[in-house]
Amino acid sequence: MSESLDLAAFPADFLWGTATSAYQIEGAVTEDGRAPSIWDTFSHTPGKIDNGDHGDVACDHYHRWPEDIDLMKRLGTNAYRMSIAWPRVLPGGDGQVNAAGLGFYDRMVDALLEAGIEPNVTLYHWDLPQALQDRGGWTERDTAEHLAAYASLVAARLGDRVSQWATLNEPLCSAWIGHLEGRMAPGLTDLTAAVKASYHLLLGHGLATQAIRAAAPGAQTGLVTNHSTVAAASTRPEDIAAATRMDGHINRWWLDPVYGRGFPADMLDVYGVELPERPGDLNTIAAPLDWHGVNYYFPATVTEDPGGPVPYAREIRLPDVPRTGLDWQIDADGLEALLLRLTDDYGVRKLYVTENGSAFPDTVAPDGTVHDPDRTRYLEQHVNACTRAARKGAPLAGYYVWSLLDNFEWAYGYDQRFGLIHVDYETQARTVKSSGLRYAEMIRAHRDSRL
Ligand code: IFM
Repeated sequence: MSESLDLAAFPADFLWGTATSAYQIEGAVTEDGRAPSIWDTFSHTPGKIDNGDHGDVACDHYHRWPEDIDLMKRLGTNAYRMSIAWPRVLPGGDGQVNAAGLGFYDRMVDALLEAGIEPNVTLYHWDLPQALQDRGGWTERDTAEHLAAYASLVAARLGDRVSQWATLNEPLCSAWIGHLEGRMAPGLTDLTAAVKASYHLLLGHGLATQAIRAAAPGAQTGLVTNHSTVAAASTRPEDIAAATRMDGHINRWWLDPVYGRGFPADMLDVYGVELPERPGDLNTIAAPLDWHGVNYYFPATVTEDPGGPVPYAREIRLPDVPRTGLDWQIDADGLEALLLRLTDDYGVRKLYVTENGSAFPDTVAPDGTVHDPDRTRYLEQHVNACTRAARKGAPLAGYYVWSLLDNFEWAYGYDQRFGLIHVDYETQARTVKSSGLRYAEMIRAHRDSRL
């Protein structure tokens, strides 16, 4: 049964979008001058990715993008969040520009606008040129400067047509999962490296924001961060303190400096790593944003874990709660709470949900359809949570489903599928799932409610 949705809670110019990222869909990793990124290296390192999967071909979007834009039109979306592959544009990370790489995104942007779909372009969705990793990657301040130079180049080329820009996607994952937990590229397990990387990512965000604004006056520049609500597993003071630390690790560390509060003092104590700070950096990081993008998937419930890794808090698995195919807990109330926290505690003036979605191992039925009631329910519940947040004052201006297509889900490879559109990786055939049809229906219903 479909939920009835209070779509009139959204403004008439609400953006209904889908999101993807370059490495997860493009393929063509050696074509037209693209050089390897840290994800090419990591995914080809034995044992790092389920089934030994990698992004060499992925959804072959590099060749099939016109068909993919047609599919967006079929869904009725008016926005698309995409990322640019840094190693396509600057194969060495800095220096020589690859005209063919820039040209690809140039054509893509023109075609999106032609289709009435507004591009929201993310500059860094984790695919650091390997050449920069070889020089220390995000543990080095230079990488922040290189991000800004790359941002300036791309904004100068596309900024006459692209007005929505995001500097980074989910710096938490780059720093904590990539440098501390080792489950993502570059695969390090080093707290000092992780804290330095987190700092340089945020500095890079600030420098890139300045660069975009200088190259494309009038650009709307934002940051995309991922968050979870955090609850203590019990009322024990130790668990409550653990929840505070986890909240610091995954939420406040990424928000406080961006909103001018500096890095949280309690977390500096937890990490015990000196920040590579120079005068003026905190102001650079806190440059006011035009919008904030929230990526939300699941909540966290934690208990203390004194002998474990930072932040000495361990997630517990709640029994009897709904879960996705990746075993992620489904809790739409968490999305409402996060949108309101950003509005009320951080004073954010314009919000997008830049990613939200669910993975299941969908299959194509003999009649050629893909029926995905679990994803449809997830979508309805989370859009509903957005309408509640909007009614309570969250300045929500758009919602992007993760993802347009099934794609390369990083360390999980291809088994779990996030798309509104199914991809047969053998034939590259695309099939709109029933969740995609439901999304199209919602978009139409919202437009009708605003006529
Ligand atoms: O696939 C990822 C995406 O690249 C970043 N945000 C979370 C998604 C699902 O894990």
